[in-house]
Amino acid sequence: MTISVIGTGYLGAVHAACMAHLGHRVIAVDSDEAKIEALAAGKPAIFEPGLDELLAEVLPTGRLTFTTDYAQVAEAQVHFVCVGTPQLAGENAADTTYVFSAGRSLAPYLDEGSLVVGKSTVPVGTAAALKRTLQDGAPAGVEVRLAWNPEFLREGFAIEDTVTPDRFVYGVEGSHADDDVALLDQVYERPLSTGTPRLVMDYPTAELVKVAANAFLATKISFINAMSEVCEAAGGDVVRLAEAIGHDDRIGSRFLGAGVGFGGGCLPKDIRAFMARAGELGADQALTFLREVDSINLRRRARMIDLAREECGGTLAGRAVAVLGAAFKPNSDDIRDSPALDVAEMARAAGAEVRVHDPKALPVARKHRADLTYADTVEEAVAGAHVVLHLTEWQDYRDLDPARLTPLVRKPVVIDGRNKLDPARWRAAGWTYRALGRPHA
Ligand code: UDX
Repeated sequence: MTISVIGTGYLGAVHAACMAHLGHRVIAVDSDEAKIEALAAGKPAIFEPGLDELLAEVLPTGRLTFTTDYAQVAEAQVHFVCVGTPQLAGENAADTTYVFSAGRSLAPYLDEGSLVVGKSTVPVGTAAALKRTLQDGAPAGVEVRLAWNPEFLREGFAIEDTVTPDRFVYGVEGSHADDDVALLDQVYERPLSTGTPRLVMDYPTAELVKVAANAFLATKISFINAMSEVCEAAGGDVVRLAEAIGHDDRIGSRFLGAGVGFGGGCLPKDIRAFMARAGELGADQALTFLREVDSINLRRRARMIDLAREECGGTLAGRAVAVLGAAFKPNSDDIRDSPALDVAEMARAAGAEVRVHDPKALPVARKHRADLTYADTVEEAVAGAHVVLHLTEWQDYRDLDPARLTPLVRKPVVIDGRNKLDPARWRAAGWTYRALGRPHA
């Protein structure tokens, strides 16, 4: 089948490559020429494990092409809308401008047999509005077909999550709904035959599934971080607590990692946009708890600074602070709403001399957060430090030999903002080890 993918950001680039891998002919479109050129050369601007290899596999086959020319989508039968929906400046709501501009650009190329598939994360109600935009711009006599098919991919596992997702969600409406389901099954090679659940529903439910899932995940993280605050007050250990409650199947142990909280391009923005949309719908009360989820999350960042200040004799002014991590999570070079960089910025604002290290995100951070100071190696970051803050749990940091770092620092103090370093190992090497939600030994 020939398909088009509109928008080649994280979602679109991975989706396009995965669809070509499945054997489809894929035309990927974006208005950003630099991005298109880089992808066509097999050098995506993002770091995503396996993506370079996947592009190297599919580009030589000619099945995947990248273009800035919208007219080329005319060849495709199924069109995936994968554009971004960032948070509006100064507001909580999501900016859906790109979804509708993609719709207007695409509409003239639609015909009777074509299906538009929305994958972007959107405020509920966008699908119905997009269908009207598409219908307005479609050639006379063409009845527009639209399905809503949210994605749930995690950065760092984007390819795996696209090729073997936990479930497929199809939002379909209108007289062609059954045909739309059949066509999507064909695109995904009959998910049911592989045993992957496939759930068919209406547009609003499909749109809500995505934001509800992200709201739940954010709530789970903030729940354990709230327990972390209580543990700090009561002298308990949140890591042992999480382990113990996680054994209850109804709770489950995943996403109970207490620490400096969630960041990235999805969870923070999605819960805020969800609250804003619920407000517009008159259902704001239903989601006021998400305001707490957001606050708990942000409070953990401030707690890191409090601990650092405590370890530096009551002030960060003039103290050297090493920050391990810039990406919002490991195996990614994404620094959007990164708790690590936020904490680094807070330390700097408190007068500290901050040096940030990251195994992968330094080029991106240097480009977009030029206000901070970076170090190419861990050794360089920790040299002369009064305190080391561990903020992104890269395997490289877990593998560090603390004994080797001891002679480099001014004071061997590490604050583990992710609860992923081995306290015994660091303490044995002479370090003061502190962590969020754990007793100070
Ligand atoms: C998330 C959703 O998981 C995904 O399904 C959706 O499509 C997009 O948003 P992603 O942003 O890539 O994916 O990252 P994820 O792995 O979910 O982590 C989000 C944040 O939560 C990270 O900052 C991570 O460090 C933090 N986190 C995660 C915790 O603080 N504790 C945990 O236990 C798990």
